[in-house]
Amino acid sequence: MRNSLKKAINYYDIFAQVYDLFSPKWYYHEARDYSIKQLQLKEGDTILNLPCGTGQNFEYIQEYINNTGLIIGIDLSDGMLRKAKRKVNQNDWKNIHIIQEDATKVNTTWLATQYDNTLRADVILCDLGLSGFPAWEKVIDNLYELLAPQGRLVIMDWYLPKPTLRGELIKWIGKGEVDRPIYQYLQSKTNDFSVNTSFNRGGVFVATGIKS
Ligand SMILES: C[S@@+](CC[C@H](N)C(=O)[O-])C[C@H]1O[C@@H](n2cnc3c(N)ncnc32)[C@H](O)[C@@H]1O
Repeated sequence: MRNSLKKAINYYDIFAQVYDLFSPKWYYHEARDYSIKQLQLKEGDTILNLPCGTGQNFEYIQEYINNTGLIIGIDLSDGMLRKAKRKVNQNDWKNIHIIQEDATKVNTTWLATQYDNTLRADVILCDLGLSGFPAWEKVIDNLYELLAPQGRLVIMDWYLPKPTLRGELIKWIGKGEVDRPIYQYLQSKTNDFSVNTSFNRGGVFVATGIKS
């Protein structure tokens, strides 16, 4: 593992203890709620959530799929995944697989080794991850490839292109960048694209790309 990635994951292993306190439900609620609506979930869907962190999305997703289908939650931090697993056990959710993996390795070959060659995701939610991942464009390419035809890739993340104090604070807390042209890259991949940049006082966007 590269040194900078190792440092970030070590940080999240510790931050996991207080993540749900420091990143409480209300802070991203509007953006999360909108992101999940954009997925247009149906019972029985296969959903990939990368990075799943402490599993804050799971309760939102279950409201739509009611413990049916399959949620694959992927993250690299053991500490964050332990919190996610605790939520799964406490709620007795049977449709969630938690897998520890580096986002840059999640591609069609990887999915085939975990499941089988034919599995594709009906929807993918990538929230607050691409601002921190190395090779983030490649991660978007891979996720797009993992989608079933007409599948939806929803990305929620920060975009503050001009340097500000708030941007510096978000970078420090999240150990990522805030000026990557993430939604613009997704837009370049699909004709069926929309973006809403109104969340968290204009700092957070939710972008949706549909696979043609
Ligand atoms: C800001 S948290 C977001 C977690 C979750 N999506 C949420 O919204 O609460 C960033 C997450 O990315 C994970 N992460 C960072 N680099 C990663 C990588 N290369 N592969 C997989 N997960 C990674 C961290 O462990 C952390 O859980």
